[in-house]
Amino acid sequence: MNTESRRIKVWDLPTRVFHWSLVLSFAGAWLTAEGEHYRAIHVMFGLTLLGLIAFRLIWGVAGTRHARFASFVTGPAKIKSYLLSLLRRQPEHHAGHNPAGALAVVLLLALGLSTASLGFMTYNDIGPEWMGDAHEFVANTLIALVFVHIAGVIVSSYLHRENLVRAMFSGFKRGASSESIASTRRAIGILLLLTVLGFWIGYTWTTPGVTQALSTAPHATQDDDD
Ligand code: HEM
Repeated sequence: MNTESRRIKVWDLPTRVFHWSLVLSFAGAWLTAEGEHYRAIHVMFGLTLLGLIAFRLIWGVAGTRHARFASFVTGPAKIKSYLLSLLRRQPEHHAGHNPAGALAVVLLLALGLSTASLGFMTYNDIGPEWMGDAHEFVANTLIALVFVHIAGVIVSSYLHRENLVRAMFSGFKRGASSESIASTRRAIGILLLLTVLGFWIGYTWTTPGVTQALSTAPHATQDDDD
């Protein structure tokens, strides 16, 4: 275990903006999933999820050190060794994602991408009828995984005596100074945030279904209970 306890920069700004925008979009899509009334808003959040994950796939190659897939995607042996270190109550220290968390991250990205793509195809009548059922099934699996992810974050924070949620906001964690990232890529992070906000404003502005849903009660729409 790493005994050095310096405060170092680990998460760049684009990764943090990505994560919290993903959380908001996921929550928004989940809350608007049922019925026709909020459909336009549901589609807006689904499209945001698609765009965000597309960005994250690029950032997994072009981003800073701990955001790169090569730095955290690992095989079963490392995951097992990490889980055993937890059982021994001597958790291996990882400046970026730990191997078990990394597995959850890969699954969250894969399921997020599948859910949003299947939703897009269903909404645009592309592909066979079962697309809608597949969208719902994958979305429910994703929701279950999100709960596992949140539980994992809480348990890890406790075992490592480090608040990982705060770290996802501030970008700082404990570690050796050699593990720090050199730049937080602030300009790209701000650009990503403005793109997400701009998309939401533009979509709301140009899609009557969004303003209509926000200004009328759900029961005002006839086919709401399907
Ligand atoms: C309030 C709910 C949530 C909290 C508190 C939370 C917290 C966190 C934390 C602390 C990390 C960093 C873990 C580490 O240190 O290794 C993380 C990473 C991640 N979380 Fe969450 N999370 C939440 C919801 C979600 C949701 C809903 C999704 C997806 C639908 C999600 C997807 C991810 C992904 C993909 C990463 C990896 C970030 C990256 O490397 O880009 N999280 N989350």
